Amino acid sequence: MALPSMLRLALVAIAAARQVSVSRHMALTIGDATHNVFDFGAAGDGETDDTAALQAAINACAKTGGLAVVPAGHTFVITSVTLNVSHTGLQIDGALKVADRDYYTAKAEGKDVIVITKGITDVAITGTDGLIDGGGAAWWPHKGDFRPHMVGSDRATRLLVHGVTFLNPPSHCLELSAAFVELSHVNIFAPPSTDAPVVSHNADAYDVHGAYAYVHDVNFTTGDDDVAFHANHTLVENSYFGTGHGASIGSLCDAWVTNVTVRNVVFHGTTAGCRIKTRPKCAGRVWDVLYENLTMTDVEMVFDISMFYDNDHPYPKDKKTTLKIEDVTFRDVTSANHEFSGSFYCDEDSPCERLTFDRVHLVTDDAWTCKQSRSGDACCSHSKGTATDVQPAGLTDCFAHSL
Ligand SMILES: *[C@@H]1O[C@H](CO)[C@@H](O)[C@H](O)[C@H]1NC(C)=O
Ligand SMILES: *[C@@H]1O[C@H](CO)[C@@H](O)[C@H](O)[C@H]1NC(C)=O
Ligand SMILES: *[C@@H]1O[C@H](CO)[C@@H](O)[C@H](O)[C@H]1NC(C)=O
Ligand SMILES: *[C@@H]1O[C@H](CO)[C@@H](O)[C@H](O)[C@H]1NC(C)=O
Ligand SMILES: *[C@@H]1O[C@H](CO)[C@@H](O)[C@H](O)[C@H]1NC(C)=O
Repeated sequence: MALPSMLRLALVAIAAARQVSVSRHMALTIGDATHNVFDFGAAGDGETDDTAALQAAINACAKTGGLAVVPAGHTFVITSVTLNVSHTGLQIDGALKVADRDYYTAKAEGKDVIVITKGITDVAITGTDGLIDGGGAAWWPHKGDFRPHMVGSDRATRLLVHGVTFLNPPSHCLELSAAFVELSHVNIFAPPSTDAPVVSHNADAYDVHGAYAYVHDVNFTTGDDDVAFHANHTLVENSYFGTGHGASIGSLCDAWVTNVTVRNVVFHGTTAGCRIKTRPKCAGRVWDVLYENLTMTDVEMVFDISMFYDNDHPYPKDKKTTLKIEDVTFRDVTSANHEFSGSFYCDEDSPCERLTFDRVHLVTDDAWTCKQSRSGDACCSHSKGTATDVQPAGLTDCFAHSL
């Protein structure tokens, strides 16, 4: 018996799908179809603009979902492509290269390199040693001008990035506003923001803007925040942060962020290790944060909590800070060869509370040290906390004498 055509289509869509999961965090359903960019006229010679071919391969997934395949052994130059089909992914086994800045700007000003559109679900960017080269050096000097993110998403659901290296992002690399994100075996590499022949600018690896994010087995070695947390329910574990500005909550103003965990991470040469930065004269709350089992070498400042980030901004003088930072735990943190132990600068209108330090060993310090605060020498101001098995001694006193 012949099926009505609508029903037949629906059956095809259900039958031709694969489950993709790399952990228990989430499973995605991706269509079974594969569409190789070469079948859509790509040159893959590292020079020709292959944006249209890659977009056509994505568009070919429109009916049943599927994978647009970037084959190994070839480099495809692109400007901006749009992932606007649910149950679809990019399988990057070869390399994508972002077009030269002038050309990109002429063709796609205002658009990120990979745009994941609002409302779609089940999107994968996966690869076997896949590479996306952002050519950031041409963009970093143009701080005030348009610079694309490597991947930008606007409220998608279920997003997996796995097995891909992002090199030299022009600006923030992954700027993801999505519900349920997983990053696994992702490398993001850019030079540091100072002391390098070419310095990067704003090259955050991952800005978390959606709840329930799981980041594991990544290597973020970059020039700005390794992870910038702006959303609830993020877990980062079993990872490596090379250069960069550390595991950074914020900066925040009028924002409520809870349940952030960073554990089992090696930091080497980051500016901050554990950082929370909020702005003056703001409302909000940061609470239930855990930094655990972190091993640091050569970081500038191990702990950095400040409610005075970007103090130069003209904030209303009459408005008081009501933003709270509380219930933040640092456990099993070791650091060697850092410049400063850390500082806790909170607002007198809104002290930081219940900062808990447990088994924190700063092996190179004789005393607790910090960069000079706005108001003087103390490393703790308007901060309350407890220190158990913390070396060097002095943190308990620091909190006790905190104004
Ligand atoms: C996705 O975006 C591309 C490029 O703008 C467009 O050609 C295509 O029709 C869009 N597909 C869907 C399903 O919206
Ligand atoms: C992370 O990548 C950097 C830069 O390529 C490299 O030096 C470092 O060894 C890598 N770390 C790990 C743990 O793979
Ligand atoms: C985080 O969760 C709280 C509720 O616990 C909610 O009020 C707040 O808006 C959430 N924050 C974000 C950034 O979505
Ligand atoms: C905290 O966040 C993690 C990581 O997303 C999540 O698995 C866990 O369920 C969250 N806890 C609560 C109480 O929501
Ligand atoms: C602590 O983190 C390291 C990675 O830096 C990991 O090898 C080790 O198993 C972790 N320890 C625990 C108790 O999870």
